[in-house]
Amino acid sequence: MNHKELYELAVSARERAYTPYSHFTVGAALLTTSGKVYLGCNIENAAYGAVNCAERTAFFTAICEGEREFSAIAVAGGREGEIGEICAPCGICRQVMAEFCAPDFEVVLGAEDGVKVYRLDELLPLSFTKDNL
Ligand code: THU
Repeated sequence: MNHKELYELAVSARERAYTPYSHFTVGAALLTTSGKVYLGCNIENAAYGAVNCAERTAFFTAICEGEREFSAIAVAGGREGEIGEICAPCGICRQVMAEFCAPDFEVVLGAEDGVKVYRLDELLPLSFTKDNL
């Protein structure tokens, strides 16, 4: 599975987003080191604090299925009905990534000419992890 293919899966997961409040839809595709992919979408709630981002939906689904080793996540998002621009993971999702992933975990985001790949430690430098405890 290459980066572009993973991103296309994130684009397809975006169609399942439940976003009656923000109308901002996000899809994620999380790749395990064994090559399996778990999808996620954002799921909103009338109590706004209960909103779950697409990235965390993908992580929590995978973790619950027994997965623990991940190599990359692709994220696609934008306003409902629009193709969308770059949708970078929020801080909480970056922290969840840091819990389960190595510093070289890849975050695949949309770019004007395809996709751009970032390392987790680039998106969340000087992170607080289990190594600190
Ligand atoms: N959202 C995500 O799903 N992932 C991100 O990385 C950024 C934000 C969602 C949460 C909420 O449903 C909507 O986008 C607007 O914040």
